[in-house]
Amino acid sequence: MDAIRWEGNTLFLLDQTRLPVEEVWLSYTDYRPVIDAIRTMVVRGAPAIGVAAAYAYCLAALEGADLQQARAELAASRPTAVNLFWALERMAGKAGACGGDPAALVAEAVAIHQEDVAMCKAIGLSGAAVVPDRARILTHCNAGALATGGYGTALGVIRAAHQQGKVELVYADETRPLLQGARLTAYELVTDHIPATLIADNMAASLMAKGNIDLVVVGCDRMAANGDFANKIGTYSVAVNAHYHGVPFYVALPCSTIDLSIPDGSGIPIEERDKEEVRTLYGVQTAPAAVEVYNPAFDVTPHSLVTGIITEKGVIYPPFRENLQKLFG
Ligand code: MRU
Repeated sequence: MDAIRWEGNTLFLLDQTRLPVEEVWLSYTDYRPVIDAIRTMVVRGAPAIGVAAAYAYCLAALEGADLQQARAELAASRPTAVNLFWALERMAGKAGACGGDPAALVAEAVAIHQEDVAMCKAIGLSGAAVVPDRARILTHCNAGALATGGYGTALGVIRAAHQQGKVELVYADETRPLLQGARLTAYELVTDHIPATLIADNMAASLMAKGNIDLVVVGCDRMAANGDFANKIGTYSVAVNAHYHGVPFYVALPCSTIDLSIPDGSGIPIEERDKEEVRTLYGVQTAPAAVEVYNPAFDVTPHSLVTGIITEKGVIYPPFRENLQKLFG
């Protein structure tokens, strides 16, 4: 399964706002509408945003646009996932080295895309080793093939463990307000014939209390140098619940999601989204139009609640600050 394609100097994105009801591919030959696609979550998930931005940068080069301006506009699309800034910095470095040659930039974006898939597969294999036999696994939001170049981070771990015959059941949190768990994770699991049960977000603690969850694995949008990390809103409460019930809690991510320039989670910028996302559900009003709304897209989980960090280079255990530093040599 994939959600991003590059063919004949055109970027194709699977419109994730319409899944699972319709599979619609949108095409882009201008970088500007890609900014909107990131903002409106046609493409979403930290690594996927980075890959899409890299291709959008190529479109800017092909159009003969000002690359510095295109980079700044793309960077302003969503603030939390660091992969966006990481990919744009890599593309700008390449542009400097190749004099903005579009063919060389396309090769770089394709490499970013392919490397991301390879990293996800390596994350899957590292992570499968910590999954016990007959595991009942809980995940939150969507950190799957749709959220990456392909295969997924948290769902990559689940896919690899499933291939090894270790997965009894995956519980997917529905993930209000935008339902990435219900719409996207459930879609990926059902498509891949991985046994799955969808739950509303407020049901996870009761499953843990009954002893029905063996392990939690989630994705990440940005990890600070001490292991604190931002992920979809609600991740923090899953981690608190897991800690209380003694359930191992893992976060899966490629090294491109680690931001060593931020010492701890308090420095991670958290996106606030449109209040209508909470007052409505699929365009249907579910709250008084006049009610005030709080709608952060992400929260920060402190490293003290994390059992292990699953990367393409292996699983990292505490002390996280020291061990994350070692990853980067
Ligand atoms: O707002 P979204 O849907 O982009 O949020 C996605 C998440 O929080 C994912 O868990 C995260 O980006 C990791 S994706 C491998």
